[in-house]
Amino acid sequence: MNTPLDLSMLDIAPFRERRERLLAHIAAQGGGVAVVPTAVERARNRDTSFPFRYDSYFHYLTGFGEPEAVVVLIAGDTPKSILFCREKNEEREIWDGYRHGPDGARERFGFDEAYTIGDLDLRLPELLANQPVLWCSLGYENDWDARVMRALNAVRANARAGTVPPHSIRDVRAELDEMRLIKDASELAVMRRAGEISGDAHRRAMAATRPGQYEYEIEAELIHHFRRAGSQSPAYPSIVASGPNACVLHYVENDRLMADGDLLLIDAGCELDGYASDITRTFPVNGRFAGPQRDIYELVLAAQTAAKAEIHPGSHWNTPHDAAVKVLAQGMLDLGLLMGTLDAVIEQGDFRRFYMHRTGHWLGRDVHDAGEYKRDGDWRVLEPGMVLTVEPGCYIRPAPDVPEAFWNIGVRIEDDAVVTTDGCEYITERAPRTVADIEEAMREGLDGA
Ligand code: GLY
Ligand code: MN
Ligand code: MN
Repeated sequence: MNTPLDLSMLDIAPFRERRERLLAHIAAQGGGVAVVPTAVERARNRDTSFPFRYDSYFHYLTGFGEPEAVVVLIAGDTPKSILFCREKNEEREIWDGYRHGPDGARERFGFDEAYTIGDLDLRLPELLANQPVLWCSLGYENDWDARVMRALNAVRANARAGTVPPHSIRDVRAELDEMRLIKDASELAVMRRAGEISGDAHRRAMAATRPGQYEYEIEAELIHHFRRAGSQSPAYPSIVASGPNACVLHYVENDRLMADGDLLLIDAGCELDGYASDITRTFPVNGRFAGPQRDIYELVLAAQTAAKAEIHPGSHWNTPHDAAVKVLAQGMLDLGLLMGTLDAVIEQGDFRRFYMHRTGHWLGRDVHDAGEYKRDGDWRVLEPGMVLTVEPGCYIRPAPDVPEAFWNIGVRIEDDAVVTTDGCEYITERAPRTVADIEEAMREGLDGA
């Protein structure tokens, strides 16, 4: 059989269980039909496409990675899950690779029915007819919106046959976001492995860095490890930012020559089987922390430690951020970067000049993952199974009122945390973090990585 090896290992039980849970949610709200498409293939230039990446919601429900696929879930007395996918096609498979085809996909991924994607426009009106609610993701993609509207109009046009279209449309993503926010055991297993791979990649990057190299040489070390360890790609464009570039939050050019005395900030994580990891480390290119660079590093590390202490069930989303801000603001005062009192610099937001982002975000299939941060106006309470990043930083651009010794220092330290029943688990510990551990990893060089 020419099924790709990794898919032959795929356990479909979690995907089936998620479809059943979504169907139960829909049934509990009066029933209806959910329609979720995968991502669209995009041209990069002329006849070259961007690498295809399935839609996170679609893949969460199906485990099915091929382009041109839609899942339809019908709630009711006999719930049903139906896949539309590309047909088997020997000619296309010779050029582009294996396709399951509807029969193969139904069997392998556990759908009740499967049809070719070419049948979708014909069958969708029948599937929507007489359903009370259409659950879909409106506004996700213009062509998809138009396709769904055409199907609704086709039901309306058939009114004399006694069929009616759904009387309301709801965003299925709201239901799925809540489900995705709490990771199940299979998801956590993948995320732990993604964290290990990314942690080892950061260690390798430290071991490989020397003055006189270009940032892209270190980016190559990250990619080298991501792929060698079996992850599919970076989860987002790697930031390899030396010297002043560390103060550009979304720097991705990665083309500067690194000099003795520079700090290097690396924000990079792999994507493994659809799940992101997200790690930042900052270290001196010459392998030795000293002077103001060390002061700022220790300050950001202390802020991260304070934030981490607030990650446990029952804590509010914003509590780790507040804890980090308090430590950072006090440090900025102590180092002469800010003037005034702690309360005043926090209340007036003066600290934002050097710390302008928040201390974390949900992490999962998307690097900035699904899930609301507030509920009924209040920051939500952390629960076991939630995964979040902890990433305080300090970025000091040159300015006449800032001591010159601090100019161009940019530090961020980012780890990934799983909330557990009694606290939290860090899944990115393999990336050296303390001054001593980083200096040791750099001394060891690539032989130790
Ligand atoms: N790498 C993206 C972030 O840290 O949010
Ligand atoms: Mn992050
Ligand atoms: Mn990051």
